[in-house]
Amino acid sequence: MATLIMYYSQGGTTDLIAKTLAKHLDASLVRIHDLKNRDGFKNRFIASISAFRESKTDIIPAKVDLTNYDTIYIGSPTWAGNPTPAIITIIDRCNFTGKDVVLFATMDTTHGDSNIERLEEKVKMRGARVIESFTLATKGKSPEKIVTDTEAIIEMKDLKMYKR
Ligand SMILES: Cc1cc2nc3c(=O)[nH]c(=O)nc-3n(C[C@H](O)[C@H](O)[C@H](O)COP(=O)(O)O)c2cc1C
Repeated sequence: MATLIMYYSQGGTTDLIAKTLAKHLDASLVRIHDLKNRDGFKNRFIASISAFRESKTDIIPAKVDLTNYDTIYIGSPTWAGNPTPAIITIIDRCNFTGKDVVLFATMDTTHGDSNIERLEEKVKMRGARVIESFTLATKGKSPEKIVTDTEAIIEMKDLKMYKR
């Protein structure tokens, strides 16, 4: 059995965090892609409303097979204080019964906690046991700083303990 990191990233920051986690935790990665165009000011506004309303979106991959994993990390940027539509969509297509779940949220500066709270409610409703969570503020940070911050979280939260 193994660890899977399932995440969405629009701008690449959550992607970098997921890849850093995967490297240190010997985990597999699956990046969820949102087929809606989220670029530009107008689309960002619409994206915030969609996140607030928990609107579903079209995603690739459409489904993720969790059979071979017992620990699942789920990562999402914070949009208007909420998880992203792509992550809400994939969570509602998964059964987390018997799975240990670690949640992580990225944000510029604020509301990562409300993102985590909602993610936790959603995955618990689908059978997960949430064993850990963390947020990471990303605004103004270089890629190198994002990597060292992620490595510090791995140490501080002793995430290697959950490796099987
Ligand atoms: C539509 C939208 C809404 C956002 N809302 C918030 C927010 O409420 N609080 C915050 O601190 N950052 C917010 N952000 C910033 C992102 O959460 C942050 O930059 C994140 O690290 C981006 O991750 P990514 O590069 O993996 O897409 C928002 C970004 C977008 C595009």
